[in-house]
Amino acid sequence: MEQAAEFLERYYILNGTIVHGDKRGKKIGYPTANIQAGNDHKVFPKKGVYAVWARVEGDYHGGMMNIGVRPTFDGESQTLEVHIFDFSGDIYGKEIQVQFVSRIRDEQAFSGIEELKARLDKDKEEALNKLKKRTPDIAKQRN
Ligand SMILES: Cc1cc2nc3c(=O)[nH]c(=O)nc-3n(C[C@H](O)[C@H](O)[C@H](O)COP(=O)(O)O)c2cc1C
Repeated sequence: MEQAAEFLERYYILNGTIVHGDKRGKKIGYPTANIQAGNDHKVFPKKGVYAVWARVEGDYHGGMMNIGVRPTFDGESQTLEVHIFDFSGDIYGKEIQVQFVSRIRDEQAFSGIEELKARLDKDKEEALNKLKKRTPDIAKQRN
């Protein structure tokens, strides 16, 4: 992912709309915004977890994104979901731009929600570390 950004001279991005998910994330302290991609031909990064910058209503927030099928919950369809750090607010229906900064890990099947939560705590730490060294692309990716 870092190399993609280097060659592109900007982060790889995903634009979409925030839609409702299953709301399970909220219970473990990691609410997520589920994203519906705005472009049917979009090429998604490989399944897994990423440190991202997310732009919502003109503001940039750090976050972590999961692209995958959620094997812990026997998921089948692929979802795009982002947890935005230190954020609360109703953003359903709003547009979002995700800027991919760094890949953290593969998606995994956990034994349950507690194990998933413990891993998300670690992911958050790793994502914050990655984001400390990178700023969001502001002028380059307005749309
Ligand atoms: C950063 C991040 C990493 C995740 N990693 C996994 C994973 O490795 N395995 C998995 O089954 N689900 C993973 N998930 C998905 C969670 O299972 C999902 O967010 C949770 O079920 C809540 O979904 P909901 O808000 O749509 O109910 C991850 C979610 C996020 C935000």
